Amino acid sequence: MHRIQRKGGELHVEGVSVEALADRYGTPLYVYSAGTILDHYRRLRGVLRALNPLICYSVKANSNLAILSLLARAGSGFDVVSGGELERVRKAGGKPAKCVYAGVGKTEEEIEAGLRAGVKAFHVESEEELHTIAMVAGRKRGRRAPVALRVNPDVAAGGHAKITTGTYANKFGIPFEQVAAIYRGASGDRRLHLRGIQMHIGSQITQAAPFRAAVRKMVPLVERLRDRHGLEYFDIGGGVGIVYQDALASGRDGWWKTPKAQRFLTLNEYALSLVSLLRNLKMQILLEPGRFLVGNAGMLVTEVLYRKRTGQKHFTVVDAGMNDLIRPTLYEAFHQIEPVGKPRPGAISTDVVGPVCESGDVFGHDRTLPPVERGDRLAILSAGAYGFSMASNYNTRPRPAEILVSGNRARVVRSRERAADLWRGERRS
Ligand SMILES: Cc1ncc(COP(=O)(O)O)c(C=O)c1O
Repeated sequence: MHRIQRKGGELHVEGVSVEALADRYGTPLYVYSAGTILDHYRRLRGVLRALNPLICYSVKANSNLAILSLLARAGSGFDVVSGGELERVRKAGGKPAKCVYAGVGKTEEEIEAGLRAGVKAFHVESEEELHTIAMVAGRKRGRRAPVALRVNPDVAAGGHAKITTGTYANKFGIPFEQVAAIYRGASGDRRLHLRGIQMHIGSQITQAAPFRAAVRKMVPLVERLRDRHGLEYFDIGGGVGIVYQDALASGRDGWWKTPKAQRFLTLNEYALSLVSLLRNLKMQILLEPGRFLVGNAGMLVTEVLYRKRTGQKHFTVVDAGMNDLIRPTLYEAFHQIEPVGKPRPGAISTDVVGPVCESGDVFGHDRTLPPVERGDRLAILSAGAYGFSMASNYNTRPRPAEILVSGNRARVVRSRERAADLWRGERRS
């Protein structure tokens, strides 16, 4: 369950009024619920306890240090995809030994840094990358680089094409048929420690079938490679979807929800579909959830600047833009939009748009909302994942502040940027 609800008609994150946060810290503003994140982490561990998995939170979903340290203290490992993310995890108190290092384009410097830090393994996405990791490890005599191949199982995950990763039309991973030969070729290489095997088929997956199909396809290969090369772990990636529609009304998260026509994956179904396939592997199981842990735990709070009507449409112009939350523009993603204060009676149909000079700067088309006025605040829900972490400074817009709420306490975990922050490092000609 997420902890974002109306109390006395007004939106609250845990015990804290969102209106009061907007008054105090201004808008646009990201607000996260620490209790929700921890709850999601524990529930996921709970349903999979038969596998005793190591959860490696996918840092790209939300990389704020406060969120990383919250999860590190709960025992989480991390899935990182750059030298910067690895540094963030270390700064937040995460253990490199619980970090898996993914990414199709690791540089030699990043590989060296990962080796020096002592990551659990590099998730290798091509044969050339494997050679490069061996070469870098060879420079540090006596250092063996821990590696796991990322397998592309060629299984479609459904959902948006831009977040599907596990088919041969995608750049990710090593084709299923090539994997065994690459492990064989690497097995005599003393610079490498063949530690595991990994897959990740996509994101915002709302059915059990793709996970099950991919794991079912992988298991015989994994068993063979475990026996031949002594692999210790099988990492099944992330990708568990969440609810974006009606997230507030239900007070529930993705896995419980059965919205309208589509039946969504429940957490129990996810677990049931996997435990039976994985429990006899006698290997450590890793997961890399991102969105599932933080998505429903966060919102972007914005203020209504103007309203206008063309011959065709009504527009509500808000002070957050696509630079702050790009998912609707990039993926045509739906985010529920709710008044922060007590909703006024009545309803309007409106496009909620940002101030950025792009026609695609739209948070919602033809939304039915209670009537809004200048100065009202709106909450764009389920924005905890791939929100701030994908934010940019397009149009020289400083990025929002971030607040983490825990119970009745709210803490600024990232200050609002100022314009001068944006040109620091630039030089006048
Ligand atoms: C390798 C890998 N692992 C995990 C994730 C996290 O995915 P999600 O946030 O859907 O759980 C991603 C996201 O794209 C990824 O690329």
